[in-house]
Amino acid sequence: MEHLRLGLNIDHVATVRNARGGTHPDPVAAAKLAAKAGVDGITAHLREDRRHIRDADIYRLKHEVGLPLNFEMAATDEMAEIAIDVLPNACCLVPESREELTTEGGLVVHGSQNRLVPFISRLQDVGIRVSLFVDPDPIQIEAAKAVGADIIELHAGPYVEAQGAARAAELTRIQHGAELAARLGLECHVGHGLNYETVEDVAAIPHIVEANIGHFIVGESIMVGLEQAVRQMRTLMDAGRERATCTS
Ligand code: PXP
Repeated sequence: MEHLRLGLNIDHVATVRNARGGTHPDPVAAAKLAAKAGVDGITAHLREDRRHIRDADIYRLKHEVGLPLNFEMAATDEMAEIAIDVLPNACCLVPESREELTTEGGLVVHGSQNRLVPFISRLQDVGIRVSLFVDPDPIQIEAAKAVGADIIELHAGPYVEAQGAARAAELTRIQHGAELAARLGLECHVGHGLNYETVEDVAAIPHIVEANIGHFIVGESIMVGLEQAVRQMRTLMDAGRERATCTS
């Protein structure tokens, strides 16, 4: 079985840089280090308020790093124009509100067909694959298929935040969501809040092909360095994947 791809979300290197307004630490330099440590792709979220990633970062991540770029963004005209200019490998559409600390819930796809269908085809027309960040809810996953998405990224936040039986129930929702995506022919990713403790169990779900992880790896890199944090995450992902191979 293919290894679970690790997409490193680089946003919070930019958060630290922006705390002092200068150029250090550079998210592009961090992405290059992460590439050496074995990440499979880079994710960056250009928010409307530019609180971490800036426009110039997105262009540099695309042109200087040499890894597939997953451009996370709200479904706005401003972002579509930037994406069409940058031409990332994929765009991951997320809901966005100014007040939130981070992306809080999945995109409401069901009922948004009139807005999303033309938006998605505009990106696909220039060769960008489109991913929708959704809760592991069959209604949203089926709607993602209906609006023409290539990929869904399942929201792992509730799974990570729950404990005990509630966490097991959230994991089952992710597993069923991934199975439904596979039946519908959607590529399935997962992300948000994943850490060393929670990554193995999602890596054991065979239909998930990519995990996008940011805050934990960037935080851990303060302790052990970015390369070591990436390598440890990779080791745990591979251990989880091994279980998938054994049981499938
Ligand atoms: N995937 C999506 C769609 C996200 O919005 C985020 C957070 O920006 C991530 C993955 C990465 O989450 P975290 O930084 O908690 O690992």
